[in-house]
Amino acid sequence: MAKRSLEELQKRYSSASTVKSDGPGGMRGPGGPGGPRGPRGARPTGKPKNSKATVRRLISYIAVYRMRILVVLVFMLLNTLCSVAGSYLLRDVINVVDLSVSPEKSVLVRLFMPDATADNFDTTRRVACLGIIVLVLAAIYLVGVVTNYLQGRLMLTVSQNTTEKLRNDLFNRLQKLPVRYFDNNTTGELMSRFTNDIDTIDTMINSTVTSLISGAITLVGTLVMMLFTNVWLTMITVVFVPLFSLTGSFIAKKSSRYYSAQQAALGAVNGYIEETVTGSKVVKVFNHEATCEEEFDSLNDDMRDKQIKAQFYGGVMGPIMNNMSNIAYGITAGVGGLLCLFAGFDVGGLAVFCNYSRQFSFPINNISMQMSTIFSALAGAERVFTVMDQEPEAADLPDALPMAPADAQTDTEGKSIRGDVVLDNVSFGYLPGQPVLKHISLYAHAGQKIAFVGSTGAGKTTITNLLNRFYDIDEGVITIDGVDIRCYKRDDLRSHIAMVLQDTHLFTGTIMENIRYGRLDATDEEVIQAAKTASAHSFIMRLSDGYQTMLEGDGANLSQGQRQLLNIARAALSKAPILVLDEATSSVDTRTERHIEHGMDRLMKNRTTFVIAHRLSTVRNANAIMVLEHGEIIERGNHEQLLAMGGRYYELYTGKKELD
Ligand SMILES: Nc1ncnc2c1ncn2[C@@H]1O[C@H](COP(=O)(O)OP(=O)(O)OP(=O)(O)O)[C@@H](O)[C@H]1O
Ligand SMILES: [Mg+2]
Repeated sequence: MAKRSLEELQKRYSSASTVKSDGPGGMRGPGGPGGPRGPRGARPTGKPKNSKATVRRLISYIAVYRMRILVVLVFMLLNTLCSVAGSYLLRDVINVVDLSVSPEKSVLVRLFMPDATADNFDTTRRVACLGIIVLVLAAIYLVGVVTNYLQGRLMLTVSQNTTEKLRNDLFNRLQKLPVRYFDNNTTGELMSRFTNDIDTIDTMINSTVTSLISGAITLVGTLVMMLFTNVWLTMITVVFVPLFSLTGSFIAKKSSRYYSAQQAALGAVNGYIEETVTGSKVVKVFNHEATCEEEFDSLNDDMRDKQIKAQFYGGVMGPIMNNMSNIAYGITAGVGGLLCLFAGFDVGGLAVFCNYSRQFSFPINNISMQMSTIFSALAGAERVFTVMDQEPEAADLPDALPMAPADAQTDTEGKSIRGDVVLDNVSFGYLPGQPVLKHISLYAHAGQKIAFVGSTGAGKTTITNLLNRFYDIDEGVITIDGVDIRCYKRDDLRSHIAMVLQDTHLFTGTIMENIRYGRLDATDEEVIQAAKTASAHSFIMRLSDGYQTMLEGDGANLSQGQRQLLNIARAALSKAPILVLDEATSSVDTRTERHIEHGMDRLMKNRTTFVIAHRLSTVRNANAIMVLEHGEIIERGNHEQLLAMGGRYYELYTGKKELD
């Protein structure tokens, strides 16, 4: 691969990453100073298309906890009241120690020492009052701390329970989606529904919503207290603070554009690293290290530039702009000072008021930033719901036939299956208008072995994918024991067809567990027997922990052939009357393969078996061999007949074209 341009790389990799590109950092702290969201807080953007429906649906998830939320609201109210009232007591503190101020100016003095006048308010009484104020202050802040704690805890359970339910619903829907869905949606995309999208929802519920609500309460509470302290100054504050705050945050908001650019660059870098790490062997094989380094360097350079921009606006300009509200603060302080000098306003009142005017600007500065989090959370929720709304595999027909369990002796529990399979004039395409299989007709009597051979892409795997209804056919009919497979319960149908898929897959777990995946109620002895059938026993015994060896990362610690043997053992454990082996032994050496053959013969005995193999030695003893070409059966017969025919099979088998 020649070195690609930066644009090309960005286009390819920015959405490829499955790595979570961002943590929920920098967003917490309801009622905080409203500093700009740092670059770590930037979110993948995207506006929700139908916010109303999404909001309604999201609320239906959260509404389950409405009682808790109500309690949270009460705590929030208390908490805010405490903080507003606590600030107010500063006025009393200053006024009590200010010898020039008469005691009536202090609320607590009026309350606890009603007989105090300017004349009898001596130092002893002042100290006593100071003590009382401090005690009240301590009590108020204690209530504040407790309510804050309870509110935080409760809200955390709301958000975590909600996202847990979302993840569950999403995962359960994924389990029910047809195979077709996974053809068109990458793992990375689906993973980011679980990580990025659900995380933004979490952040929104947990901190954004609470900080907006507590912000609103603070705003009202502060306003009331400001009016109580001084009406004139309140008027000034109410006019100037929003004016400067909003201009400031308007400029700060402009920088959000740089955040998304930075986010995309980060995604590209992550995607690129991910691909090179996963493909590190291929990179080395073809000596692409230098190109990789150059490509990475250009992506990395680009990320640096965008990060500088984003952090300059977010981390440097943002705070400066947000501080515009300090101008309002200055004006308030100036006018308040004049009021003190000429209109008898008390210094304590001024100090408290300046404090309030600060508090008043926090929520206002905060709103516009929180709004963008809400938008990206809604966009995330919408993407999550879109997956949840995907059509699941079509439901079983109402009168679907149950099949007796594969190992049942009698058919009291449903129709017991012998394994007669018939495909009658079956046509199918993955995409409409592009047929992959054309008019396939064949039969397999119970216990017979049918082989499919043919060149790569001919449609062999596709036929087997139709038997167990990974895909439903477009035309024709497939029957098992004379009944259309669409008339059986889907789960029953699948439990009666054991498959060794062309792409092996092993789960994280022990070898024992992985083989037992084929039949969960199998005993250890049965598992070991199955492993022997598949000739896997001897290599398993050579592993340090034998059957208890842990497999990780799709069995990365095994060889390709060993992985295949485990997949065969898994199928061998199943008692299904129909068996499909898709290139089951393609990576196994010929000696081991011959070894398996006896086991395989035992495995196939009394079962209808479909074998796909490029290595023709594995198919020669089949009852019938179908030669597929471009989705059609072009030759059929047993090994001798087909050889005698001297056609495509002869060509495949002998490796040479018939000389004529
Ligand atoms: N999920 C899919 N979506 C769209 N087209 C597909 C899909 N899977 C396979 N095809 C197409 O269907 C055709 C048949 O594929 P199939 O996997 O059945 O081939 P095959 O005979 O098993 O080949 P091989 O020997 O390489 O395993 C191919 O042309 C392929 O491009
Ligand atoms: Mg195949």
